[in-house]
Amino acid sequence: MKKAHCLVNKNYEISDIDERVYGSFIEHMGRAVYTGIYDPNHVEADNQGFRKDVLSAINDLNVPIIRYPGGNFLSGYNWKDGIGPKEDRPVRLDYAWLSIEDNSFGIDEFADWSKKANSAGMIAVNLGTGTPAEAGQLIEYCNIEKGTQWSDLRIKNGHEKPHNFKVWCLGNEMDGPWQTGQLSAEDYGKKARETAKILKWVDPDIQVVACGSSAKEMPTFPEWDLTVLDICYEQVDFLSLHRYYEYNGNKSDFLASFYDLDDFIHTIKSAADFVKAKHRSEKVMNLSLDEWNVWYIKNMDVHRWEHAPAIAEDVYSLIDALVVGGLLCTIVNNSDRVKMACLAQLVNALAPIHTDPNGGVLRRSTYYPFMQVSNYARGKAYKNLMVCEKVLTPKYGEVPVLQSLCTYDEETGFLVFFVLNTDQEESVELKLDLKEFGNVEVVEHQVLMGNDLFAVNTFEKPENVIPTKVNVSDVNIDELTVILPKLSWHMLRFKSDL
Ligand code: AHR
Repeated sequence: MKKAHCLVNKNYEISDIDERVYGSFIEHMGRAVYTGIYDPNHVEADNQGFRKDVLSAINDLNVPIIRYPGGNFLSGYNWKDGIGPKEDRPVRLDYAWLSIEDNSFGIDEFADWSKKANSAGMIAVNLGTGTPAEAGQLIEYCNIEKGTQWSDLRIKNGHEKPHNFKVWCLGNEMDGPWQTGQLSAEDYGKKARETAKILKWVDPDIQVVACGSSAKEMPTFPEWDLTVLDICYEQVDFLSLHRYYEYNGNKSDFLASFYDLDDFIHTIKSAADFVKAKHRSEKVMNLSLDEWNVWYIKNMDVHRWEHAPAIAEDVYSLIDALVVGGLLCTIVNNSDRVKMACLAQLVNALAPIHTDPNGGVLRRSTYYPFMQVSNYARGKAYKNLMVCEKVLTPKYGEVPVLQSLCTYDEETGFLVFFVLNTDQEESVELKLDLKEFGNVEVVEHQVLMGNDLFAVNTFEKPENVIPTKVNVSDVNIDELTVILPKLSWHMLRFKSDL
């Protein structure tokens, strides 16, 4: 059995965790909206057509912010198509997903729905085919109380009170040739800057997010980030990052995704800090990892011009859930700069929640590590000084066999430690040194593991891949040692007497 040692010292804090790192994403993509969160004909629909069973699954995940309405969809979308009487709303072609959009769900429906999901909105404005002026009209519609053309139209449309969205994304992946209205870094930087100025004139209390590189593999990475920030550094509050992973036949590479994400975040952080130094700026640019996940099915052409086609409905397995756990650790360990992050996405399209249009809701394997971390890794994040063996991966070279995170919430006295063992052959005996947190008592130990790495949840076997409770006496409280079987994900919750 391998041995490892981890010291977490209360004096070595990373940061307060911004709860918005546990955000997610609803795009007009496939069945995310239609037959996902919104399905007026479903037996579970409430009086606004929102599926109550889906809302309940989302509420259990505890998602504080949700990005909307895209994604690639955004760059050809006219928000005005989605307001007013439903019978008057136009049916349009959506170029991003080659789908039919009937616009029966728009910004007002999202505002109502997100309240029921106990979540704030992260609203994205179209900077592909859209203009800064139209973005200004949207924020006027949403955030101005009354007395102007667009705010009065919102009131006329049945929303007396403003929606008051406080986070705004300036376009989506504008470096991508797949984007409707792709821009060069210079053109995007200027458009983002001018849009940010308008949005903040309308509502000075908002935060805005500029598009960073959509992937590490982009030929323009990381030059794009430098150029964009060079143009709009003082006008924006966040730079966005997107990152997706998939299993391509090599398990050790896939399991090491957490390591790659860490590298990506560090590179973008350095790019942002370079611009800060160049501008002699006092401002630290925070990062919004507003799309991250495991994603397999990318061919959308099979459902050309259908309404709500079943696209990108990835069926996640145990190995995907382990990878998601590792990625969550990386996000929390970078919480000094990553202040927002969105699991992409939330329902049906590459999502932890799956709906049957004629039936119930299924929680995919990846639902569970997200739910655990989002609910319990709160308060402050602490450095994990981990000493463990390394695995040799073809893609990333030597990578630590364990990935972990540790948080402590002073208000509740709960200290929570999550750890992923990526070793494919052996268990690891981990000794935890938590002395600086006083006397700790183990309250709960949950583990996610199984004999079949490719096992999935189905409507017939919905709990095939879920964490199980382990007897807390398995943790040696005097020595604070715990055995981590090969390929396992753990949540250990301790109560401190501090
Ligand atoms: O989340 C799916 C898609 O991935 C988003 O629409 C786009 O921004 C990214 O390429």
